[in-house]
Amino acid sequence: MLKIALTGADGLVGSRIIELLNDYFIFIPINKNQMDITDKNQVYKTIKSINFDIFLHLAAFTDVDGAEKNNELAYKINVEGTKNVFEVVNHKKGKFIYISTDFVFDGFNPPYNEKNQPNPISYYGKTKYEGEKALSLPNQEKAMIIRISYPYRSTFEKKKDFVRTVKLLLEQKKNLFMVTDSLITPTFIDDIANALKYLFLNYSPEVFHITGRDSLSPYEAGILIAKTFNLDQHLIQPTTYKHYFKNRAKRPQYSQIQSIKNNFYKMKSFEQGLNEVAKQIQNL
Ligand SMILES: NC(=O)c1ccc[n+]([C@@H]2O[C@H](COP(=O)([O-])OP(=O)(O)OC[C@H]3O[C@@H](n4cnc5c(N)ncnc54)[C@H](OP(=O)(O)O)[C@@H]3O)[C@@H](O)[C@H]2O)c1
Repeated sequence: MLKIALTGADGLVGSRIIELLNDYFIFIPINKNQMDITDKNQVYKTIKSINFDIFLHLAAFTDVDGAEKNNELAYKINVEGTKNVFEVVNHKKGKFIYISTDFVFDGFNPPYNEKNQPNPISYYGKTKYEGEKALSLPNQEKAMIIRISYPYRSTFEKKKDFVRTVKLLLEQKKNLFMVTDSLITPTFIDDIANALKYLFLNYSPEVFHITGRDSLSPYEAGILIAKTFNLDQHLIQPTTYKHYFKNRAKRPQYSQIQSIKNNFYKMKSFEQGLNEVAKQIQNL
């Protein structure tokens, strides 16, 4: 069995990958207590001491608005941390997979496939793109870069994704505003895990977009969430991108992400993903 070492293993995405693929691979989770990726010495010692075939790097500073206020820490974790980890993995001749984001694009000229040029507009997006660029220096083995977008899953106590946030607010009968003049591409995390299963076994150092089958406005997404879980859709009021994100980090307005490379795993549409979430919740 392939051995996969990973950072960010207890996060939203990483923990589900392990849950779903545990029978197929040997996972070696490395948490922040064992190895703070910003500590170069600790990274060197930890990674040198373990045996793995593939290193999956998920750990990141993921708070998009927080990154605008805390530039230094976001840079340290997302750029320097990524460099620290990649350097040692590369030295050991291990295969490296970096999880990146649709926020590397500006959202002005959708759709975006793997061939489109990133141009991040938020500090978080900038650091994630710097992280990508740090993986293709001269004389280094290249890495696989996987961009995901708006990941969601059925359950995860530690962090709410946007589907569970909207669901909870509607359950609490709160009014909420959702943007109509924008596009997002929600991605079911179980699909990310299943696509990764293929990519672990068919590693190739290139960029892949592993994202949901369709894109829709956050408003449309909210209505679908309400319908799927039999909640009151009238609690959702339309608003504009400009108004909603005033005084917040810039997000790509039209984040329609597509793949011209994923011919190996059929990603779900948002409606299909939500139906699967509903089924999983029912079976808990
Ligand atoms: N969530 C999204 O909407 C989204 C969208 C697109 C792409 N992505 C990318 O997908 C990846 C996973 O995201 P996620 O949402 O699963 O993340 P998450 O739930 O926020 O978890 C982040 C993980 O990184 C770890 N970490 C943070 N700083 C660290 C450090 N200095 N050293 C070692 N570990 C550190 C955290 O450990 P602690 O919990 O101990 O702090 C946690 O396990 C990230 O690379 C992110 O950029 C996420």
